[in-house]
Amino acid sequence: MNMGVASPSTWLRWRDTHLQAPLWLFKATVKDADYEALLAGKNRTRRSFRRKLAQRILWFWPRIDDASRWAEAEEDGYWSPKNYLRENPTRPAQRVMDVLPRSEALLELACNSGCDLNFLYRAGFVGIKAVDVSGTALAKFKEIFPKAWESSSISHDLLQRYLLAQASKSVGTIYSNGAAIELVHPSFPVVKQMCRVARHGVILELNPKSAGYPRDYLGQFHKEGFRVAYTTEKADGNSASHLYHFIAK
Ligand SMILES: C[S@@+](CC[C@H](N)C(=O)[O-])C[C@H]1O[C@@H](n2cnc3c(N)ncnc32)[C@H](O)[C@@H]1O
Repeated sequence: MNMGVASPSTWLRWRDTHLQAPLWLFKATVKDADYEALLAGKNRTRRSFRRKLAQRILWFWPRIDDASRWAEAEEDGYWSPKNYLRENPTRPAQRVMDVLPRSEALLELACNSGCDLNFLYRAGFVGIKAVDVSGTALAKFKEIFPKAWESSSISHDLLQRYLLAQASKSVGTIYSNGAAIELVHPSFPVVKQMCRVARHGVILELNPKSAGYPRDYLGQFHKEGFRVAYTTEKADGNSASHLYHFIAK
């Protein structure tokens, strides 16, 4: 008999979408020193017993630890930037090329070694902004795509702090290929912040149900005044990952 009890995944999705603390708690808890330690590969040594306990007991307790393994990525390790050097653009980058004017002000979240950004640079987009937590990946980017690197504005940072520092509506379109957005702990309102910063749209490859923290992305974008202009959900069949182009209503 179905007692109407939500499955753990439905509960988790609801919790990670709706039951989160306000942004002021995130800002009050995660300080510049925490970002700097993580970027320097020292996040583990910084995690105090009290911090671990708070994170374990309170699911909404602000944290950025998920990014630490990426910050510590090595050139020949499991998280190597070489894994993201592709022969063709990813679907978000291809979508940017297909539908946006070359004058569009772009921001790439989690650019890694710059493969997508280089495709866009070669397609005529200029002054692209980008951010990634991996110093190793950015060093690779600078080495192999020097022209794209020079023409862009690249930041070694966590996308959480980067987004918080951007003025509202300061870029045209944000794009990102998964999985990066899904790895952001729900204590940081990543959808809300992308919608605040993007004037026109957000283009993402997302696995909304099973990668990282499952969230109701479509509901969150709708709430922030963005609608789905294009998605590959139906065409993707059994694949859990889909391309979404959200545009401001
Ligand atoms: C699966 S890789 C995808 C890389 C790139 N978007 C691509 O598809 O080629 C995830 C990327 O997210 C970056 N990343 C993870 N968490 C991050 C965070 N909080 N802030 C900035 N970058 C992050 C990693 O360093 C890595 O480059």
